[in-house]
Amino acid sequence: MLKRSIGTSGIESSAVAFGAWAIGGWKWGGSDAEASVAAIRASLDSGVNLIDTAPVYGFGLSEELVGKAIAGRPREDIIVATKCGLVWDRETPTLHANSEGRDIYRTLEPQSIRAELLASFKRLGVDYVDLYQTHWPDPEADMRAVAEAMHALKAEGLVRAIGFCNASLDQLTASADLLDCDQERYSLLDRKRDSDNLPVCQSEELAFLAYSPIAQGLLTGRIDSKREFPESDLRHGNPRFAPRVLDAVQAVLAPVKALARDRGVPTERLVLAWTLAQPGVSHVLAGTRNVEQAEANAAAGELVLHAEELDVIDHAAAAWPGFESLLQA
Ligand SMILES: NC(=O)c1ccc[n+]([C@@H]2O[C@H](COP(=O)([O-])OP(=O)(O)OC[C@H]3O[C@@H](n4cnc5c(N)ncnc54)[C@H](OP(=O)(O)O)[C@@H]3O)[C@@H](O)[C@H]2O)c1
Repeated sequence: MLKRSIGTSGIESSAVAFGAWAIGGWKWGGSDAEASVAAIRASLDSGVNLIDTAPVYGFGLSEELVGKAIAGRPREDIIVATKCGLVWDRETPTLHANSEGRDIYRTLEPQSIRAELLASFKRLGVDYVDLYQTHWPDPEADMRAVAEAMHALKAEGLVRAIGFCNASLDQLTASADLLDCDQERYSLLDRKRDSDNLPVCQSEELAFLAYSPIAQGLLTGRIDSKREFPESDLRHGNPRFAPRVLDAVQAVLAPVKALARDRGVPTERLVLAWTLAQPGVSHVLAGTRNVEQAEANAAAGELVLHAEELDVIDHAAAAWPGFESLLQA
């Protein structure tokens, strides 16, 4: 399994991470607890040791399932990443979303960050978290002061590394000296970060954790217009899954699928390995729901792509017109 550093924190983890959003069920049409725990354990058994979760994923459920899956394994073998900043038990000035009958608010007040961390410890069954990240910036907060508050938790030994998610270039740049990583949406179909946060991560020696690297299933090449998503799945009625987009994805993936056939591997394995080969991208957080996906996604961390294969996928990626232009057309 390919290993990568989380910035200069001294932590090395698998380059492929278990993304634990979907197992929380929220926005993913529900989940199966037993299959989720089995998926995490299968990932760990396949060499993945980084797990990315968040309190809001299933309103505590994802963290609880992660806690259950890692219980009894040596704590030092597992790199647990979780987040703070989205709360559903109180009102703050910034409403983030209303979902499944709950109002979710943003807040990154120092005392709230600490309270959230202690609640995560309980759900995860741990007494420190390896990587603690702000889930979304709080427009009410000075993000540099937030980074300082997170850094203080690191100094106390409650967390080992810290990072931002969904940060603007300015926010990232202003706190880069305090952070170990940045987590952003990035995939063969989502390359905005190539020109802003990624170069900063490279020059400041921060890890870059790519989220939604399979474009929420699109890059498996196996989602077509016959696939029906339950209403509570974020992909239901989502323009990114409109028939026109699905056709364009199939066209772009054709040479990648041919390469995958030649190598006898699933398309997503090539796509994840290609993503890990992009300058500055250190980790891919692959959302995983069952044992089959766990084993397939973990295997991407063992796949070495040759220069000609990278070229083929580069050309395919360059042919992607972009979601915006497809949806405007
Ligand atoms: N910081 C943030 O704001 C943020 C935002 C989004 C995500 N994240 C993190 O990034 C992780 C991954 O992102 P994501 O879950 O949005 O998207 P993703 O990893 O691109 O896609 C995940 C979905 O693709 C399908 N899939 C995954 N592996 C597969 C395989 N081998 N074969 C077939 N289908 C497969 C599964 O859905 P089906 O089986 O239902 O098709 C799975 O739920 C999350 O779990 C979370 O840890 C963070």
